[in-house]
Amino acid sequence: MKLTILISLLAAAAAQVSAGRCPHVNPVPDPAPAPSDTATPAPTGGAPPAPGNPDVYYAVTLDQLNKAVPDAAADNYCSLNDRPKSCVNNKIAVDAINKAMTKYQIKRRGEAVAVIATMALESGYWQYNMNDTPGRPGQGTRAMLMYNFVYEYAKYLFPDAVKAEWKGLEFGTAENNKTMNDVAAMVIADEPTSFGAGFWYLSKSTTGFYNNDAALRDGNVDDFKGYLVDGIHTTAAEERITIWNKFNEAL
Ligand SMILES: *[C@@H]1O[C@H](CO)[C@@H](O)[C@H](O)[C@H]1NC(C)=O
Repeated sequence: MKLTILISLLAAAAAQVSAGRCPHVNPVPDPAPAPSDTATPAPTGGAPPAPGNPDVYYAVTLDQLNKAVPDAAADNYCSLNDRPKSCVNNKIAVDAINKAMTKYQIKRRGEAVAVIATMALESGYWQYNMNDTPGRPGQGTRAMLMYNFVYEYAKYLFPDAVKAEWKGLEFGTAENNKTMNDVAAMVIADEPTSFGAGFWYLSKSTTGFYNNDAALRDGNVDDFKGYLVDGIHTTAAEERITIWNKFNEAL
């Protein structure tokens, strides 16, 4: 029974990735300034931020993630699927997600649920970090950012290493394909960075959804639909709402 569920989940994920259905297709705005280094780091991990304490970042527990994605709770989750190289289980994912939420100073549960649910869909529950089946060179991270955003994210993370001429590349030639995949490789090289992509996007590349009391309110599915349409420029597809519901219940 459990295996059947996993197989259908994997098939669905593969179909979705191969369909290239990925949201981040809009032109890139000017990147926002880097965050200040003065904020207080997340203290405990696990507990939602105490109301009224603005310096505590949101954190997720392994139990919560296991509840949302039961298949990925297993130690052998990744050896059961055909993406063992890019796949991680919940144990690795939860650590990367919490590091990313600290880095991008995520304090609101509604933001955490929206971004984590979206990354779960885009990565096929942590199996994929590149769109390589059959593939769109340069598209990757756990949020499956399109290349134009992968480029901006790489520049944000590694300003000295990323060259201006890599901006706006289109795939097609062997050289472009390779360069675009090399840029993506920079940002998926470690899990906190690959999982950080969705939070970077929320906090730096879209405006009006991050730290906004009127957007992505806790438990508000209409706010999530607004983020899908106006934040990541996709549709409020039923599969996205179904996954959001799972995370909204579990986190
Ligand atoms: C570059 O990638 C595209 C998309 O996957 C592919 O169609 C094309 O054949 C690739 N170019 C080369 C030279 O391999």
